This record gives sequence, structure tokens and C-alpha cells, in this order.
Amino acid sequence: MRILSVSSGKGGVGKTNLVANLALALEKKGYHTLIFDADLGLANIDVLLGLAPERDIRHVLSGECTLKDILIKTPYGFEVIPASSGVVELTRLDPSEKMALKDQFEEVSRGVDFFIFDLGAGISDNVLFFNLVAQERIVITTPEPTAMADAYALIKLLFLRHQVKRVYLLVNMVKDEREGKAVYQQIAQVVERFLGPVGLTYLGALRSDPCVAKAVRRQEPFLEVYPEASVSQDLSRICEKLLRLKPKSEGGLEALWSQSFRATS
Ligand SMILES: Nc1ncnc2c1ncn2[C@@H]1O[C@H](COP(=O)(O)OP(=O)(O)OP(=O)(O)O)[C@@H](O)[C@H]1O
Ligand SMILES: [Mg+2]
Repeated sequence: MRILSVSSGKGGVGKTNLVANLALALEKKGYHTLIFDADLGLANIDVLLGLAPERDIRHVLSGECTLKDILIKTPYGFEVIPASSGVVELTRLDPSEKMALKDQFEEVSRGVDFFIFDLGAGISDNVLFFNLVAQERIVITTPEPTAMADAYALIKLLFLRHQVKRVYLLVNMVKDEREGKAVYQQIAQVVERFLGPVGLTYLGALRSDPCVAKAVRRQEPFLEVYPEASVSQDLSRICEKLLRLKPKSEGGLEALWSQSFRATS
């Protein structure tokens, strides 16, 4: 199983759309994918996909049900663990709650090829925690200077505080592929100059495309409803690139989970 996180410094840069569509692309290639909506502030992958979860992580934390009970199988094959608004950060749970949740995560991720965390914007403890549990981290930015500065701030914090050295950069809402590469090069230069050993891999760019907003309004992944759109072509390329990248194995979910709690609490 490959465990991936998707985060950004700035909000609204396209994390949730990437996660949903990447899950679909992976599923189409035969890789079973599970999404955890770990944006505990404003959960919205369920809205994006038109799902109506009756229960969410809150009910798991209160002991009313298990993670397995709240798992939603989408019409696209991949599965989603819904979060909820206003729930406490997972990093604030007591040790026995953390262990119970870890066991449940292990149970639901059996048979899964890709486990993807859709994180909130910013640098909360929760964002840092799931970035550490993940073996591979995708940071998203757009070409806007504010989004680029915030992406750099996130990469810097992950490195300085938690020695995270491998990050994939994805540039969303670009005019063309050239703009994506230029944004990557700009950030990579600053990273190299000030953070030295951090390896920043360019995962690719997604063009700005009105089909994304149209698909969001239909509550369906753009790759499903507009497979020929430019953004869908870009997404497929990104999926292929991801499949070519071989992660360095850093232990399974169990080891990562415990280490990450030690590091963030
Ligand atoms: N490639 C794109 N082209 C055009 N619009 C896009 C593209 N990607 C995302 N968007 C638009 O940006 C908006 C925000 O996307 P999304 O909800 O995926 O961002 P997010 O990073 O998950 O936000 P948040 O930080 O609130 O979780 C969406 O409403 C979508 O319409
Ligand atoms: Mg989101």
C-alpha cells in the first residue's frame, strides 16, 4: 500500500478535486483507493461527490460505530472515510483513543493499494500529523505568489520541524505546461538555496479549465463527466507519473502512525 497526503499552504487551490479525480484515475487503472477526508475543519469531499454520509469520524471517536461502518463505497469504485466539521484534532486524542483509531485504520486499509489523505489548508497539528503518517506527500500550489509562498512555508516547516525530505509539487490552475514548470523551478530554487537536502519532485501541472467548476456543480469527478477535457488529460498524466515514482519504504501504517504521534504531540 502507498500512503499519500495532499496538502497546501493556501486554501482553495484544488486539493479535494485532485484527490477525488486521482482516486478515480487510479481505480480505472486497477488500483483500489481509499480516501480519508482528514480536513477536520471543513469537510467537503462528500459534497464534491454528492455523498450523504449519515455518520462520520465523530461517531467513531465517540464509540458509537467503527471506521468500517462509516466507509462509503462511491459509484466510481474508490472508498471514502468522511470527516466532520468541528471535530477535535486527532492529535489531541488521548493515547488509548489514538491506538484504537490506528487499529481501525489498519483494518479498513486492508486490500487497499493507495490510501490518500485529503488535508486542510495551513499548518495545523493535524496537517503535520497526516503528512508524517504519509510516505509520499503532494503539496499543491497555483501560480499565485501567495499560494507559492504558502506552499514553501509548509515545505519548510515539514523539513525544519520533522526532517521531511521528499515532497512532490503539483501546480494547479496553470495556463499551460510551461507555466507549471516555471512555478516548480522557482520554488525548487528557493528550496535548494535555503533548505538544502529537501528533494522536491515535480509531479506535473493541471490546466485551468471551466470543466472543473461544471463538474463540481454536478457533484461528479471531472474525469468522469469530461474525460476529454484538458484538465482530465493533465490528471491522467499526473497519475501515470505517480505510478512511475517508487516510494522509499518507510514502514507500514502501524509504524508510521506511532512515530507521527510521538513527533507531533
Ligand atoms: N484546474 C482547475 N481549473 C479550474 N478551476 C479549478 C481547478 N482546480 C480547482 N478549481 C476550482 O477551485 C475550487 C477549489 O477547489 P478545491 O475545493 O478542490 O480546493 P481545496 O484546496 O480542496 O480547498 P480547501 O482548502 O477549502 O479544502 C473549486 O471550486 C474548483 O472549481
Ligand atoms: Mg478541500
